[in-house]
Amino acid sequence: MHIQGMAAIITGGGSGLGAATARHLASAGAKVAVLDINMDQARGVAAEIGGIALECDVTSDLSAEAAIGQARTAHGPARISVCCAGISESRRMVDRNGPAPLAHHQRLVDVHLVGTYNICRLAAADMAACEPLPDTGERGVLINTASIAGFDGPAGAITYDAVKAAIAAMSLPMARELSRHAIRVMAIAPGIFKTPMAAGLRQDYIDEMTQAIPFPKRFGEPAEYARMVETILTTPMLNGETIRIDGGLRMT
Ligand SMILES: NC(=O)c1ccc[n+]([C@@H]2O[C@H](COP(=O)([O-])OP(=O)(O)OC[C@H]3O[C@@H](n4cnc5c(N)ncnc54)[C@H](O)[C@@H]3O)[C@@H](O)[C@H]2O)c1
Repeated sequence: MHIQGMAAIITGGGSGLGAATARHLASAGAKVAVLDINMDQARGVAAEIGGIALECDVTSDLSAEAAIGQARTAHGPARISVCCAGISESRRMVDRNGPAPLAHHQRLVDVHLVGTYNICRLAAADMAACEPLPDTGERGVLINTASIAGFDGPAGAITYDAVKAAIAAMSLPMARELSRHAIRVMAIAPGIFKTPMAAGLRQDYIDEMTQAIPFPKRFGEPAEYARMVETILTTPMLNGETIRIDGGLRMT
C-alpha cells in the first residue's frame, strides 16, 4: 500500500513508538489521527504533524468507537491502523508481600490484549467497507505491537510477556479471517527502544541489556520502529506474521 493520502489511526500516538510512527506517516503524506488517553501529549504530536488528536481509551468500546468515528469524519475511513498504546508496569507474581493483586494482571490484559483487539475490530470493519485500492487490491493494513518479551519470557513480567505473546499470536488468525476483505495484519516485536516507557528502567538493567544485544549495542530508536511500519505497509507479501526488531537480543 502506498502511504500518500491514506487515513491512518495510531493508538498511543502521543508518545514513544506511536508518536514516531505518527511523524513518519505524516511526513510520507498520510492523514494521521493520534489516539491517546493522554490528550496533552496527543495534541502536541498532532499539532506538530498537522494531524488530529482524539481522546481514546483503548480498553473501552465506547471510547474507541467514538474516536474512530471522529477520525472517519475528519479523514475518511482509515486504511492504516497502528496499535502502540501500552503500559509496562511489570511486577512479580509473588513477592515478599505475597501474591500480586489480580487487578494488576487484569489491567495489563485490558490495555494490551483487549485494547489491541478492540481497535482492530473497529478499524477492520471500516476497512472492509472501503473499495480495494487499484494498485495492490488491498483494503487496509493492521499493525500491532508485540514485544520480544512475548517470545523470550523474561522473569518478573509474566503478564506482560503473556499479553505480548497473545498479540503476536493474533496476527495469523486475524490475517486469515480478514483475507476475504483484502486486509493484512502484522505485528512488530521490538526489543528495547528509547521511549518514555524505557526511561523508567534501572541503569544497571540498561547496561546489562545493552551488553546482551549482539549488534548494534544500543537501544532502538523510535524512528526505526516507524520505518518498519512503512516497510510493512509498502510490502504486500508481509502478512500474518510478527517481525522482531531487536539487534539480535534474546532476553533472559
Ligand atoms: N519501548 C520499548 O522498549 C518497547 C519494547 C517492546 C514493546 N513495546 C511496546 O510498544 C508500545 C509502545 O510503547 P512505548 O515505548 O512507545 O511507550 P510510551 O509509554 O512512550 O507510549 C505509550 C502510549 O500509550 C498511551 N496509552 C496507555 N494506556 C492507554 C489506553 N488505555 N488507551 C490509549 N492510550 C493509552 C500512553 O498515554 C502513551 O502515550 C507498547 O505496547 C509497549 O508495550 C515497547
